[in-house]
Amino acid sequence: MTRTVYYTATSLDGFVADAEHSLSWLLSREADHEGVMGYQAFERTVGALVMGASTYRWIQDHGGPEGWTYTQPAQVLTHRELAPFPGADIRFRAADSPEELRAVHAELVAAAGERDVWVVGGGPVAAQFAAAGLLDEVVVSIAPVTLGAGAPLLPARVELVVREVARNGEFACVRYDVVRPG
Ligand SMILES: NC(=O)c1ccc[n+]([C@@H]2O[C@H](COP(=O)([O-])OP(=O)(O)OC[C@H]3O[C@@H](n4cnc5c(N)ncnc54)[C@H](OP(=O)(O)O)[C@@H]3O)[C@@H](O)[C@H]2O)c1
Repeated sequence: MTRTVYYTATSLDGFVADAEHSLSWLLSREADHEGVMGYQAFERTVGALVMGASTYRWIQDHGGPEGWTYTQPAQVLTHRELAPFPGADIRFRAADSPEELRAVHAELVAAAGERDVWVVGGGPVAAQFAAAGLLDEVVVSIAPVTLGAGAPLLPARVELVVREVARNGEFACVRYDVVRPG
């Protein structure tokens, strides 16, 4: 059964990017991507993915024309006209109500097949999925740093249950189940 998973790296004080939208505090860290809760193993479980406009712009700005490495169908939530990556399976759309978000989610689940839906980020997108009762899991890799400010991990009240705790390189990794609202 397809699960909807917010998988991300965060600072200890709950930011997924610093105040300048930089990930230098993260990309410099040592991790085993094939190891426990690592990215390579996770990526194989992903059948479709969704992200917000800032995250998409970060990939455009830092990855260049070859920066879109995902082979899965993707949806980018935005009100802007964003340039697509040639050949990539990306749908750009707004979801201005819970009903519209549920429609986005239904398409993601259908596209994912037997695999899972990855909420790439940022935090506001994950918060919208949680508020709509559409988020099943949160998986965080916590970098050993505090940033003091930046883009928030999950700016909402979300109740969680710890399912798995591990160390991967410099990261403390935790898998949580989301307790559905209501
Ligand atoms: N640490 C990590 O592993 C990790 C992972 C992911 C992202 N990041 C970084 O974290 C930062 C996240 O930035 P962010 O907090 O601004 O979040 P974001 O979700 O990437 O982008 C937010 C923007 O997405 C659009 N959006 C969100 N929900 C929408 C909806 N329902 N309908 C239409 N548009 C919607 C809006 O843009 P418009 O309305 O203006 O189009 C909104 O301003 C980025 O710098 C990213 O690179 C880090």
